[in-house]
Amino acid sequence: MKVTVVGAGAVGASCAEYIAIKDFASEVVLLDIKEGFAEGKAMDLMQTASLNGFDTKITGVTNDYSKTANSDICVITSGIPRKPGMTREELIGINAGIVKSVSSSLIQHSPNTIIIVVSNPMDTMTYLVHKTTSLPKNRIIGMGGALDSARFKYRLAEALGAPISDVDGMVIGGHSDKGMVPLTAHATRNSVKVSEFLSEDRLNQVKEDTKVGGATLTKLLGTSAWYAPGAAVSGLVQAIACDQKKMFPCSVLLEGEYGLNDLCIGVPVILGRNGIEKIVEIDLSEAEKAHMKESAEGVSKTNGLLEL
Ligand SMILES: NC(=O)c1ccc[n+]([C@@H]2O[C@H](COP(=O)([O-])OP(=O)(O)OC[C@H]3O[C@@H](n4cnc5c(N)ncnc54)[C@H](O)[C@@H]3O)[C@@H](O)[C@H]2O)c1
Repeated sequence: MKVTVVGAGAVGASCAEYIAIKDFASEVVLLDIKEGFAEGKAMDLMQTASLNGFDTKITGVTNDYSKTANSDICVITSGIPRKPGMTREELIGINAGIVKSVSSSLIQHSPNTIIIVVSNPMDTMTYLVHKTTSLPKNRIIGMGGALDSARFKYRLAEALGAPISDVDGMVIGGHSDKGMVPLTAHATRNSVKVSEFLSEDRLNQVKEDTKVGGATLTKLLGTSAWYAPGAAVSGLVQAIACDQKKMFPCSVLLEGEYGLNDLCIGVPVILGRNGIEKIVEIDLSEAEKAHMKESAEGVSKTNGLLEL
């Protein structure tokens, strides 16, 4: 199992580290455009191997796509992150050019690869990969919902005063402050609906804190977060590499599912060796349906900014 991670910045390096620590891949190639940067990150990470007990080989390269050849999975994290006060949508100008050229170079050397898009605005960047490559739809996956759901569970556990392992919940919709749809009515504490424990007001607070989860961290850190994003990507990569058939909300091309068409947005999917093995359609309340529709309109509006 060979995995390439493009962008050896905060998220790319964190993602490579979590993949290596989980020890399921034979090789991780880190690629960056900045001279020597990926080589340095790879060497530093390799020097943790004996300490953390993994055998995954991490190689760093400067823009040399021949070293990524025959990757089973490629992760795209290259591009600029947001600064405090910025929305993810504002990154589109620079990141669209980067994602387009990076995905084309990756596919040239790994025609059978599965691509996971992380760069923001992620739903639109995932759609861009669909529009500009000929990869089948099961092999183009956007990562956002797995991270947003982890943040939702963190906020739920905080509100409940419960350990996170007791909590389950999912966020679907667009990966943006306004577009996220935290499914509070479906969230549970050890199979009991969280609404049995929390008031409507407290649940609404959890929802709002989840939606601005990224912005809250960007304000504290001065740039966007990397540990949870890296861990979330590594979860998706592992589910595919190990054919786990795990369910995650991912941004995928919809063709009628959830009443939506011609856009990529977060919905629950089953991930296995073929990438997206199934899109899972769950029953949404009228309010959730309305929120999902509004979220899709926002994603389509951002897609309209792409020069295709
Ligand atoms: N989808 C999500 O849930 C999620 C979460 C966090 C961050 N992000 C996004 O991920 C992206 C990366 O964030 P970060 O914090 O790691 O940023 P970063 O600045 O730390 O790293 C980005 C790296 O990409 C490299 N790069 C730029 N152009 C390149 C190219 N053409 N080829 C190869 N490498 C190139 C840069 O040199 C840099 O090292 C941002 O767009 C950010 O908004 C998404």
